[in-house]
Amino acid sequence: MGVTGLSRRAACLSVMGGLVAAALPMRSTASVGFDPASRVFRLDGEGVTYAFGIDSAGQVQSLHWGGPLALDDQLAPAPKPSDYSGFDRANSVTPLEFVAFGGGLVTEPSLKVAFPSGVRDLVLKYLDHTLTSEGITLRMKDISTEVYVELRYSMDKATGLLARSAVVDNRTKAWLRVDQMAAATLNLPFGEDYEVNYLTGRWAAEWTLQKRPLEAGATVLESRLGMTGSQNNPWLAIGRAGLTDEDNGPVWFGALAWSGAWRITVEKDIVGHPRITAGYNPFDFAYRLKPGERLETPVFYAGFSHDGMGGASRRMHRFQRSVILPGAPEPKLRPVLYNSWEATEFAVNEVGQIALAEKAATLGVERFVMDDGWFGKRNNDHAGLGDWTVNPEKFPNGLEALISRVRGLGMEFGLWVEPEMVNPDSQLYRAHPDWVINFKGRPRTEGRNQLVLNLARSDVRDYVLKSLDLLLRDNDIAFLKWDHNRSWSEPGWPERAPEDQQKLYVDYTKNLYWILAELRRRHPKLEIESCAGGGGRVDLGIMHLTDQVWPTDNTDPFDRLKMQDGFSHAYMPGVMMAWVTASPNWVNKRATSLEYRFLSAMQGCLGIGDNLNHWGQEDFATAKRLVAEYKSIRQTVQRGDLYRLISPQGGSERSATLTVSETKRQAVLFTFLHSSSTFDATPLIQLQGLDPQARYAVRSLVGAVEADTPKIASGSYWMHHGVRIPLRGDFQAAALVLDVV
Ligand code: GLA
Repeated sequence: MGVTGLSRRAACLSVMGGLVAAALPMRSTASVGFDPASRVFRLDGEGVTYAFGIDSAGQVQSLHWGGPLALDDQLAPAPKPSDYSGFDRANSVTPLEFVAFGGGLVTEPSLKVAFPSGVRDLVLKYLDHTLTSEGITLRMKDISTEVYVELRYSMDKATGLLARSAVVDNRTKAWLRVDQMAAATLNLPFGEDYEVNYLTGRWAAEWTLQKRPLEAGATVLESRLGMTGSQNNPWLAIGRAGLTDEDNGPVWFGALAWSGAWRITVEKDIVGHPRITAGYNPFDFAYRLKPGERLETPVFYAGFSHDGMGGASRRMHRFQRSVILPGAPEPKLRPVLYNSWEATEFAVNEVGQIALAEKAATLGVERFVMDDGWFGKRNNDHAGLGDWTVNPEKFPNGLEALISRVRGLGMEFGLWVEPEMVNPDSQLYRAHPDWVINFKGRPRTEGRNQLVLNLARSDVRDYVLKSLDLLLRDNDIAFLKWDHNRSWSEPGWPERAPEDQQKLYVDYTKNLYWILAELRRRHPKLEIESCAGGGGRVDLGIMHLTDQVWPTDNTDPFDRLKMQDGFSHAYMPGVMMAWVTASPNWVNKRATSLEYRFLSAMQGCLGIGDNLNHWGQEDFATAKRLVAEYKSIRQTVQRGDLYRLISPQGGSERSATLTVSETKRQAVLFTFLHSSSTFDATPLIQLQGLDPQARYAVRSLVGAVEADTPKIASGSYWMHHGVRIPLRGDFQAAALVLDVV
């Protein structure tokens, strides 16, 4: 079933209404079925079958998550659950779809609640279900109270990505406190050899790919920070040792669409069942529901691929561009931008920015973005956040003079904002010291000299919306870079009753989503970048409301190769901003050529962030040529299928990526050499994903192929024979384009 404009709008409205959990409408929904005889449900998408059934005890058991079954294959009913021992009761050793803390559960609960009586036992049994072409909603109920849980399932047919979320509904006559709640528990087939891939990081060093065997016990990935965080990203992919590599083997993967505190637990229980539980982070969590109130979880998106880690990420990328991103299934291509941050830092002013804009325009830049420093008393990071009015000393004519010059030069104008923050040295804080997240009478710990506004409060939410709305109404602004430069501390909400203060964890993020959605509704042409001092807020929740992300403040082109590779495992290069900045780089003093810096950045969405006043004629000529080349390959790089041919991880001297356009009519190869220490041979790089029959002409963007390389050859030739690109020296790079002739 295709998605109509109406249902897409309805989903958007539901985000705006605070129903963050509503799964996005899938481009085309997978086949959904229920067999009343066996009481088995199934969802079938491209290359994936997901099935679960109701057992004789009324529990909902997982039956299959993996490769596709024939539509007429009959799955056996869920087996009768049985205890393993007096210590390990049935609910802890049975692969359940959603299990509450109760009845002696010892594994990770999907839900844990407390009743006013002190009872903290909840045992959910199947009640009923609704099946539509969009998916399945299954209701469960506690054995003795009026507590209901809704499990929601839908699947995108083309990618087989499953969306799961849950709602708890308090229909008792008293309050109910939710202490822990996951969107879903997902069970993998029984197996001993699983390996979990995940991402870790810190400021300026995000997207580190990690791998560890799944052994008895639990692997916990989480953020307690009130934001997505870069310490862990809410994504994981699980393969099988010896079977799974980049190109082959099964991969179960998933990502949580939530930009607040989250947790994903991967367990192997005492009998060896592997399972994933993903949702709100139970750490410091408590959400009290009044009678009649409900709590929804964010959506956990889960997928399966038989084509290794590469196949898994290609599915994920396709899913993001066809379902998640604003404008999906045809999100707009990212323009080439210029950003002032590394050039001028806080020292922005009308004359200086116009001078940069004039130079940027000659390069073919399409969007000029003024970063931090333009508002309030913002001369450094000690003051000004919260005061979203133009600094009159730096901009005596408001933003008007700069914007009209930028527009006159044929570029769009974009602006940096950090709306969730306040410096104690600001008019806003002096007027509203109570607007920040804090515990009464306790210190207010600063991060980068700033405090976090309590967006969960409606007055703060309204202030933030109004300030940005005014800015956008008064000025011709096409784009906001939305930053968030610290994580939470002292997460209190003193105006609320103590037992309701922890609602902050959910309500803050819901209001953030609401503001973003409302701004987009009022300014339909507006585009937004999610930035959190780099890649601290990249997840499928924020991606639904923003068009691009800033993956890291580390702009060193060599360091980035590894980070971009890590990023690409979870998220598409078509949202990943990458700037060309100064050499030597501020991070590590590494010197690289302008061409090397360009090719590294061209693996994602190209931006330029160097001080153009320091460039010579030759730099302008190189940059102009490569910006034009980027535009000719942008559709492929931003929307195509990515093949990670040679990994830059693990100290590798070389790396290579290939992106093949959706039509397979173009492919772009980037390859990098860290350093050659001996006179080593040039490897043959075998391409992937081309049309074997089509004839592709090869041309070089930077660097050259071996002299005996044919100018035109079949897809088969490039894939099975390969291409040799001689690179010698340190920090060398080359790029080729193959076009069907
Ligand atoms: C963060 C961002 C940078 C820049 C600065 C401005 O660190 O990640 O790109 O915008 O803030 O203060």
